[in-house]
Amino acid sequence: MKPSHPPDLRFPPAWNWLVDEAIPSYVKGTYSPDERWRDKPFSEKDAQFFFRGIAELSDLFTEDRPKTLPAYFRHPKFRSAYLLYFLPLQAAKFLSLYLLHEPALEAMFQHGQKTGTLRIVDLGAGPGTGSLALTLWLLDRAAREDTELPPIEFHWWDTDRSILQDGRALLERLGSHFPRLRGKVTIHLHADPWWRAASTLQEETSLILMGHVLNEKGSRPTDKGSRPTGRGSRSMDRGPDLDEDGEFPLEAGPAPTRDLALAPLETLMSRARGGGLLCVEPASRIPSQQLSALRDQLLGTTSVPEQASSIWGPCPHAGRCPLSTGRDWCHFSLPTHVPGKWFKDFSRRLSAERQWLKFSYLWLAAPGTRAPVLQQHLRLVVSEPMRRPGERLPFVLTCEPERPGRLWLRLPVDVHRGQVVNPKEPAFAASSAGVPAVGPALPQQLAQQDYQKRVAKRRAEGKTPAADSEAKPKRLGKRQRERLKRQRDKT
Ligand SMILES: C[S@@+](CC[C@H](N)C(=O)[O-])C[C@H]1O[C@@H](n2cnc3c(N)ncnc32)[C@H](O)[C@@H]1O
Repeated sequence: MKPSHPPDLRFPPAWNWLVDEAIPSYVKGTYSPDERWRDKPFSEKDAQFFFRGIAELSDLFTEDRPKTLPAYFRHPKFRSAYLLYFLPLQAAKFLSLYLLHEPALEAMFQHGQKTGTLRIVDLGAGPGTGSLALTLWLLDRAAREDTELPPIEFHWWDTDRSILQDGRALLERLGSHFPRLRGKVTIHLHADPWWRAASTLQEETSLILMGHVLNEKGSRPTDKGSRPTGRGSRSMDRGPDLDEDGEFPLEAGPAPTRDLALAPLETLMSRARGGGLLCVEPASRIPSQQLSALRDQLLGTTSVPEQASSIWGPCPHAGRCPLSTGRDWCHFSLPTHVPGKWFKDFSRRLSAERQWLKFSYLWLAAPGTRAPVLQQHLRLVVSEPMRRPGERLPFVLTCEPERPGRLWLRLPVDVHRGQVVNPKEPAFAASSAGVPAVGPALPQQLAQQDYQKRVAKRRAEGKTPAADSEAKPKRLGKRQRERLKRQRDKT
């Protein structure tokens, strides 16, 4: 069984310079309230001062975020907080995805070399988090291969101009500090909604990045006249859980809704080359399910053929994603130690010292590029091991079209989400044969079980089951079953 991610994320050597020197000195120089402090090195006292914004922003970013998340980047307190703590955190997620899918970045690089320019688009760029992480990867690659980098052209879209300017200042520092980058980097800022990129940028792109945007309020164009569309497209609303048999319903949930991000992404994908489009979102249920639903809608559009090779990751197939609704969702956790003195300090103050990087993502291949397809006999694990009531063995969910697969764990093995496994290995049972029936017990099932226990007891006492005063529970009628299902969906 081969783990599908590097056991330890290898951070490029320039990482520490960026997070421990460039960012703290930029933040102090730009955001210190007292002019006299600005040229001094970043200290414990500064960490204490800027931590207040980090703690507040961290609260705003929790899953219980207020419905109308304020335009936080308008406030200097939150821009400095993001730069110091959230930028390294999100950049580490981008980097881990770059390392997991290096062939996608190689395709990006080849496109840049062939056309003479690496053209990188960053939608909802904020301080250019994904672009900064990419620049570190490029720098590392150039050092490893001892090659010259082609000119790199960044195009950043964000509704907040100030955070774009912060990011540009940081990328310029990176560009002038490392000789391999000198004279190579140009940055175009667009203080506009991201979907304007579709009409503004006409050239081919080497890579499109979109990080932690689709979860933001106002992250989609408004289109009152939008209609349901797309194969297997799903609503953004919460859908049904497992059905009566403990399986995911095949056709259930509210009517499919067209994601308003679809049209501009379709246009952008038509000009995507090289490494295609990478979307990264938080690991929590709603953004992850939104991303899965958007994936279903994008697959089958003109530039994204409905085939497994249209996806760099995570999905090994192009069928409908069953995790776009229901109680499970597709997200990943990588065991990681994010280096950086100040990152560690802020994590400790937040009581959130990180051993895991958690995210959901979708990386689509550019038209005409074929991503490698997982060998047919292998499976991608998309859950941690779990055990449902009444089951003897734990199981993991595996990524399949329409309905997640289940793989029972016969032996105590270390299996986790994101791992690629061979179900034929002795540790696994690929079928539930010999394993007790799955699924949460429903009221009528409980009544049946109760009845059977009473029958067995009466038999043991030498009495006839029929003499039991309580009759065998009747199979519920269709309407009763539907009512029970509705009740269960609510809970
Ligand atoms: C959580 S930050 C993510 C920043 C960066 N991409 C990252 O991964 O760290 C979300 C960013 O999306 C921007 N944003 C929100 N709605 C947007 C829209 N409709 N168009 C462009 N940017 C948007 C916000 O201003 C903010 O900079």
